[in-house]
Amino acid sequence: MDISQLIESIESCHQAITVRLAVDLKLFDAIVKRTSESEDGKARVHQLAEDVKADPKLVGRIMKALVPLNILKQDASDTFSTTQFTASYVSTSWMSGAVIFFTHMFLFVAQLPAYFEQKGWKNPDDIEDSPFNFVLKSKRGYFDYMSSKPYYQDAFDTVMASPYRRDEKSWLDFFPVQEKLQVQSPSEVVLVDVGGGRGKDLQAFRERFPNLPGRLVLQDLSYVTETADLPNEIESQVHNFFDEQPVKGAKAYYLRTVLHDWPDKQAVEILSRLREAMAPGSLLLIHEKAMPETNIPWMAAIGDMTMMTAFAAAERTKNEWEILLNKAGLKLSGFWKPEGSSAQQQVIIEGAVH
Ligand SMILES: C[S@@+](CC[C@H](N)C(=O)[O-])C[C@H]1O[C@@H](n2cnc3c(N)ncnc32)[C@H](O)[C@@H]1O
Repeated sequence: MDISQLIESIESCHQAITVRLAVDLKLFDAIVKRTSESEDGKARVHQLAEDVKADPKLVGRIMKALVPLNILKQDASDTFSTTQFTASYVSTSWMSGAVIFFTHMFLFVAQLPAYFEQKGWKNPDDIEDSPFNFVLKSKRGYFDYMSSKPYYQDAFDTVMASPYRRDEKSWLDFFPVQEKLQVQSPSEVVLVDVGGGRGKDLQAFRERFPNLPGRLVLQDLSYVTETADLPNEIESQVHNFFDEQPVKGAKAYYLRTVLHDWPDKQAVEILSRLREAMAPGSLLLIHEKAMPETNIPWMAAIGDMTMMTAFAAAERTKNEWEILLNKAGLKLSGFWKPEGSSAQQQVIIEGAVH
């Protein structure tokens, strides 16, 4: 990176917030509609300002700032047309969810200096004393707070279910599913997706292995499972993973990017509830990043700072995963990663009872 790139990256939050303003105004929906209905394929600022009910001067400024990002094209001072990216941000898109979710986090990340000054520069590891709670002056924590903010909750669940998070090599390509996930009878549970969001991973599993015997169970909090649109062959269950696990002796319990949301104390509790339900042949499949000890890629660094901010948690190394399993009375029984994988990619940390 040279100096100008460095300055650009430090200033990039302004760009993201500009996109966020347009998303909140539903300006992209208005532009797409206006340009598709107009004869010349162009939209005028005064019309758009009426559509979104905002000051035309402000709308014009936001639109001009979207031009260098190649999200809009400017044809005259008050006339704009779309680029190949404009429609990606309409309000039904997962990208608009991503803009809301990531820019919401700025509010908390920006307060890290104040948090550390007050906390004496101690690494956060107490969920109740997270930077997130510090900003809100509360002890509610991320998930509880989000559940009372539908705009942000929907953005979070949309991002979690998005194809963007499933673009990289699927775990179904590098974990030996057919060899490891066999059950004796179709009435047995083959896979429980614990904290599985809207169930996209179970759907991908069933599509890839339509004939693999065994039931598939999605578990999450009620306000998440309610918004999951599931095919009949996936069962949905409201379950708080700090409570006793209702599905006993499943072939596998799968947790994708769940434990990185929790400091060790809570992660051990979650794993202990699973260990209590596991049979001797059950497997625990943790689908997460295993952070390298050196040279972490920039996205992994951002992920780690996000976990620190929202949850007083962290992305873990392979060694830290093993220590965590041991603390919960489990052993590391396998470590699976895609061929030639980068640290950016997720791995499967396999655990079993002793
Ligand atoms: C980072 S998301 C991952 C979702 C999904 N596994 C995926 O990778 O798309 C974490 C999930 O944990 C769920 N969760 C948080 N607290 C929970 C709890 N106490 N019991 C069950 N699920 C919980 C959230 O609702 C959310 O769906």
